[in-house]
Amino acid sequence: MIKEYFKSQFNCEPTAVAQAPGRLEFIGNHVDYNKGVVMGVAIENHITVAVSMRDDDEIHMASEGLRCFGKVKLSEVALQEKKQKFMNYPLGVFAMLREAGMKADKGFNLADTSTVPTGAGVSSSAAIELATAYALCKLYDFPLSKIDTVRIGKAAENNFVGMPCGILDQGVSGFGEKDAIVRIDCKAEEFSTLPLPAGTYFWVFNSGVKHALVAGDYAKRHASCMEAAETLAKYDPKITCLADAEASAVEANKSKLSPETFNRAMHVVCENRRVHEMERALAVGDLEAVGDLMKASHMSSRFLFENSCKEIDFLVTELSAQKNVYGARLSGGGFGGIAIALTNENFSEAQAKEVAEKFHAKFGAFPKFFRTTTGPGAGLVE
Ligand code: GLA
Repeated sequence: MIKEYFKSQFNCEPTAVAQAPGRLEFIGNHVDYNKGVVMGVAIENHITVAVSMRDDDEIHMASEGLRCFGKVKLSEVALQEKKQKFMNYPLGVFAMLREAGMKADKGFNLADTSTVPTGAGVSSSAAIELATAYALCKLYDFPLSKIDTVRIGKAAENNFVGMPCGILDQGVSGFGEKDAIVRIDCKAEEFSTLPLPAGTYFWVFNSGVKHALVAGDYAKRHASCMEAAETLAKYDPKITCLADAEASAVEANKSKLSPETFNRAMHVVCENRRVHEMERALAVGDLEAVGDLMKASHMSSRFLFENSCKEIDFLVTELSAQKNVYGARLSGGGFGGIAIALTNENFSEAQAKEVAEKFHAKFGAFPKFFRTTTGPGAGLVE
């Protein structure tokens, strides 16, 4: 598929092909940039990127899914607008690789194909970043470790695209494995995997509410968290980030925080604790506790962090009320996007349809839903 598409766009064979998956955030909502511990899974949907060297100093890109084509000169790599906007993630990766020391005297062709839904909260952005990073490193002979490839993806978001995200999406896309949950200690930048409990499945429901993370709300939440961390650091210098704090420290500083900032901080410190509890629940195979932690995480997003919306709340409530569901929650940045449910093998298509129909009756639209299986992390295909 990718090869034919590449050829149809550039009339030559690609030199390197790489692939990277989308992800689900399992638990640890907005905990990553607060330097706590988060968990996610790589899904089988992925983006494939193919590249070849050009003889001139231009970068040409084609996206099959977005039906877009764009070009820019090597000396003019900067944030693109309008029709060339789709180029920003790969261009950001290229810019970050050059900053990291990659030499590129000639330009490149890049084409991508995708099975990851865009704008749905499964991080198609991290997928294209990681696939691009692997492909370009091969093309320009710039070997990088897995962790550095993940860091390049995050740097592209933070420094080029302007999204102050943490390392969850790129980390999960990079370190994902089939049948595994990726655990990330975001402060130490340590990545490990835990087995996904046998006989469990993730169902994903897309609310259809578009989350535009760069624009506003995500950055606002990020700013509130940084503000709270600064206030807590004055109270206890050992607190260098929100994840260092206990709920008692946030309580003790209540008068110094606005009610809103207090709630944001409370969400983060309690969510971080829930991730540790999740680890214990998974270790002993207590799926009821796993589900309860997911539900508690959602309530905290809904009422304290206020990054849910009525459509997602509805999906979480309906899914949680279904038989064969351990738990459900908002997954990802929020303000729309997806709800996920962890189910046993008996949760059926008919049950999913029932939830979708109730959603339709209330909101007038059918949410897309699918059952995912986990898949491998990013890497070169050839
Ligand atoms: C988005 C960001 C991640 C993370 C989640 C919320 O997916 O890209 O870094 O902050 O939101 O947990």
